[in-house]
Order: sequence, then structure tokens, then C-alpha cells
Amino acid sequence: MLKIGVLGAGHIGKFHLNNWKEIENVEIVGFFEPSDEIAAEVGKTYQIKRYLSAEDLLDRVDAADIDAPTNHHFALCEMAVRKGKHVFVEKPIVKTLEEGRKLINMVREANVKVQVGHVERFNPAFLSSKKYINQPLFIEVHRLAQFNPRGTEVSVILDLMIHDIDIILSIVKSDVKNIYASGVGVITETPDIANVRIEFHNGCVANLTSSRISMKKMRKLRIFQKDAYIGIDFLEKKTEVIKLKHPSDSDVFSFDIDTPDGSKKTIAISNPKIQDSNAMKAELESFVDAVVNNKPTAVNEIDGYLALEVAHKILEKTHHNKVLAAN
Ligand SMILES: NC(=O)c1ccc[n+]([C@@H]2O[C@H](COP(=O)([O-])OP(=O)(O)OC[C@H]3O[C@@H](n4cnc5c(N)ncnc54)[C@H](O)[C@@H]3O)[C@@H](O)[C@H]2O)c1
Repeated sequence: MLKIGVLGAGHIGKFHLNNWKEIENVEIVGFFEPSDEIAAEVGKTYQIKRYLSAEDLLDRVDAADIDAPTNHHFALCEMAVRKGKHVFVEKPIVKTLEEGRKLINMVREANVKVQVGHVERFNPAFLSSKKYINQPLFIEVHRLAQFNPRGTEVSVILDLMIHDIDIILSIVKSDVKNIYASGVGVITETPDIANVRIEFHNGCVANLTSSRISMKKMRKLRIFQKDAYIGIDFLEKKTEVIKLKHPSDSDVFSFDIDTPDGSKKTIAISNPKIQDSNAMKAELESFVDAVVNNKPTAVNEIDGYLALEVAHKILEKTHHNKVLAAN
């Protein structure tokens, strides 16, 4: 039995508790939550013990599940790692790059496993499209949400765009060359809406738009590559692939087009079958598997740091553009 302690039992902490209950070979030892009101509700709903100190809880577990607001991630991760505990920490890994570097060193010394909650890696729509992704040349992403005060301790870039930054870094195997960004703080002091262009050394360009002040939700990523277009809808869990038809493609809708040299090409449109799954449960299960079987975690502290590094470069650019606009 892997003994787990949940630190922070708000919105995401409760979702995790629902999933931990369903995962085999896991014992929920208890939770640490500073709000009495939330703690009372969680204690009653889940019938688990509330610890009044994070230290006390950490002393009794094998692994910490850190679901506190982002500005508390570093202190809680540090406490857990110094005690030799494995850590699952919600995204973004920590708030600042300095915290990220310190944490990476501590993790190396303590030799513990860290997984960051970049849950879109486990989204069934993304998983079903992965096999079609091959050297993207151009990526267009929209992640739009209605305003919610939760998460506003950080900008929309660290709160929402970081999901797409992580996905893009996982599929574009190249270093970032240039970043152009513009962000506007409408309701908070940090950007609530941002548009970013990331150019990679291998020539790929990604355009990202994230907003937390939209009327409607949207989470769509579109990939254009030499031989195909792949559309991934993270919210509706749908995938569309449009590509030149291969003789082995069966059961696909197809049509012919005339090419400039007079020949015909056949275009195939398909909606790959989505293996329905619970992404959050899958990411927690993969963490347990990594700890119990001593395997690498699916999204480790370095992946978390690399996404954070790009996010901070974007923040610098949005700040620079704000200063230019004010002068
Ligand atoms: N993976 C995702 O899709 C996803 C979605 C939402 C939020 N998140 C992340 O999860 C984290 C929490 O977000 P949320 O929406 O659940 O926020 P929330 O405000 O609903 O919950 C956070 C909880 O942590 C508690 N808390 C505050 N300080 C604490 C501390 N020092 N130790 C322990 N608990 C503390 C708060 O009282 C609150 O109950 C954030 O880092 C956020 O970025 C991830």
C-alpha cells in the first residue's frame, strides 16, 4: 500500500481525493487544509483524518499530493522532498524559476520521484492523436475559460497556457529560438488574456492564445505538418485527422482533388477512435506505478521546469510590451 497525504483540499484536491479512493494499492492517510470550513466538509465527505500540520502528515506518508495554490507549491514540495517523500504536485510545478532550480537540486539529492500535474498529457483525445503527430511545422492553440477567481494568484500564462506549453514541448523536439508575446490584464494585475508566438530552432512555429475572461470555454490544438492536419479538442475529447489517403487507409471519408500538374490526389478525413478514460485518474495511477515500480514519472520535475521557463520568458515579453505601450 502506498500511503498518500493530500495537501490542499480545494477544487482540485477534492477531485484528486475522488480518484485516490478508486485507485488500488493506495491508502489515503489524511489531508492538510488550512481552511476550517473546507476541512470540515472534506472530513465529513471523505471520512479521512485532518492533520493540523503539513509536517505531521508528511511524517506519516510515502508520497505527498500537493494541491495548494501555486504560490505555496515550493514550500510544500521542499518540506516533502527534504523528508524523502515522493511528490505529485499540481501544475505549474512552482511559481518562480529560482524555486524550480532549487527543487530540481533537492530532488536529485533526495532521489525521490516527482510528477507534475500536466493532466492534458493523459487526455484521451491527445493520446489517440499521438501516433499521427510527426514533426509539426505549425501549431495553433486556443484555451479559453470564463473568469474564476481561483488561480488568479498567477497570470493566465502560468495558470492555463502552461498546459499547452507543456504539450507543445512534448511534441516539438526542438529548443525555443524566439518568443513574441502580448498580454493584457483586464481584471487582475497580471495578464488575463495573452497571445504568443513561439519559434523553434527546427522551424516549427506555435501560436497560442489563452484567456480566462471569455464567455465560452474552448481547448483546441491544431497541428499542421507536411503530410497531415491533426485537430485535438481537449474539452470535447474529439480528434480529427486530414491527410493524403494511403492505400492502407480504410473506413475513412475521402475525396479527390486536382493538383496543378493535372494529377489527382485523394484526401482522407477521419476521426480516430477515442479510448474513453479519466485523465486525472490515469495521471495519478501513472505516478503510483512510477513510485511502486521505480520507473521514471510521465511528467517529471525537469519537464515541469522547462514549461515554467518558457512561461516566464513569455511573461517577460508581455511585461516588456506593456512598458513600451505605456511610453
Ligand atoms: N491540472 C489542472 O487542470 C488544474 C486545474 C485547476 C487547478 N490546478 C492547480 O491546482 C492548484 C490548486 O488549485 P485549486 O483550483 O484547487 O485552488 P483552490 O483555491 O480551490 O484550492 C486550494 C486549496 O489549498 C488550500 N491551501 C492554501 N494554502 C495552503 C497550504 N499552505 N497548504 C495546504 N493547503 C493550502 C486552500 O485553503 C484551498 O482549499 C493550483 O496550483 C492550480 O494551478 C490544476
